[in-house]
Amino acid sequence: MYTFDELIDRRHTESTKWDRYQDKLQRDDLLPMWLADMDLPASDEIKEALMKRASHPIYGYSDRGRLYYEVFAERFQKQYAYDITADDVMLSTGVMYSIAAAIHLFTNPKDGILLLMPCYHPFVTCVENSDRRVIPVDMCVHDQQYEIDFEQLENRLKKDDTVKALILCNPHNPSGRVFGYEELKRLSEVCEKYHLLIISDEIHSDFVYEARFIPIMKVSTYARQHTIACVSPTKSFNLAGLKVSAILVKNESMKKKLKDYCSLIGISSINIFAMEAVKAAYLKSNDWQQALLTYLKDNRNLITAFVKRHADQIVAFQPQGTYFYWMKFHTDIHERLLNEAGLILNHGAEFSSSCAAYERLNFACPRPLLQEGLRRLDTLLKEIEKE
Ligand SMILES: Cc1ncc(COP(=O)(O)O)c(C=O)c1O
Repeated sequence: MYTFDELIDRRHTESTKWDRYQDKLQRDDLLPMWLADMDLPASDEIKEALMKRASHPIYGYSDRGRLYYEVFAERFQKQYAYDITADDVMLSTGVMYSIAAAIHLFTNPKDGILLLMPCYHPFVTCVENSDRRVIPVDMCVHDQQYEIDFEQLENRLKKDDTVKALILCNPHNPSGRVFGYEELKRLSEVCEKYHLLIISDEIHSDFVYEARFIPIMKVSTYARQHTIACVSPTKSFNLAGLKVSAILVKNESMKKKLKDYCSLIGISSINIFAMEAVKAAYLKSNDWQQALLTYLKDNRNLITAFVKRHADQIVAFQPQGTYFYWMKFHTDIHERLLNEAGLILNHGAEFSSSCAAYERLNFACPRPLLQEGLRRLDTLLKEIEKE
């Protein structure tokens, strides 16, 4: 039996989520529900594998051999019928590395890169730091879910033939949307029409509740040959500090370029602990993962009930995937959340300049912590109502 209710103190563990603001603001009452990692322990299988490897006191160079590639290929084959083999798996230390590499290798300075807004803010930084131009296309909202605005997308593309790539994030951070087959198919048709490279960030693919995750690579021949899929066990199994990831790609010339680039910049092997964790995660932690999903779904439903009770103050988007809840308030309450409620969420403005009244809440935490977060939010909303 798995129980995720236990509160584990993460303070003073060099945790970005727990220590950054506490140290900066010198406050020990803050409740962080922002950054994308979980306040939940990794599976026992992972912990045991890491402890076993740590007990061997020599941490020299590791030869991951074929195993790394095979473990990733088997996992994505089994989970999402990806139709890939170990030869289609490229080494990566993180999804943001993969995205930066794809931009660098397959587009040119000043090219435009499409982003569906709101979006995970490091995409913007990555595009700008690469001397490419961000081409933002706002998503639209339909039936309380975010959707791709195809009309706006095509209008942008018709006007600008310097756009060379799209960064797709599916499941979508921050909205929690999981794109369906028809939408992905239509998107791949647009990409084909305008010869766009598809950089598909699938880091949240294992967090899908009612819907089904469909890799864009599977929806058309074009997508299969022009997609760089960035995958990782780090969100699914809470391993972000271990820095491990992979790129799935079918196109032979893109594979070669990615491999050469990897060795050029000195990424030739991965951390030995990361390798142990990947094996224990993908090969031994399935039951844990199923239990986790059920727990997170219950957390999500708890928030849905909360936001329904506060429907006059919050417009919320129940996520189909990810562990984020995206919600809109009447006005920008970010500073008040921090100062008065001691609650650290991600400010919507990080994801789009038009989203200052939004917040993103990370609900991957023990339920008592979530309940405390909602209690604080409730108190603040009551206060605001009185004003
Ligand atoms: C959509 C998305 N992509 C990428 C990342 C970062 O991935 P990595 O740590 O592998 O670079 C995150 C982390 O929050 C994310 O939410």
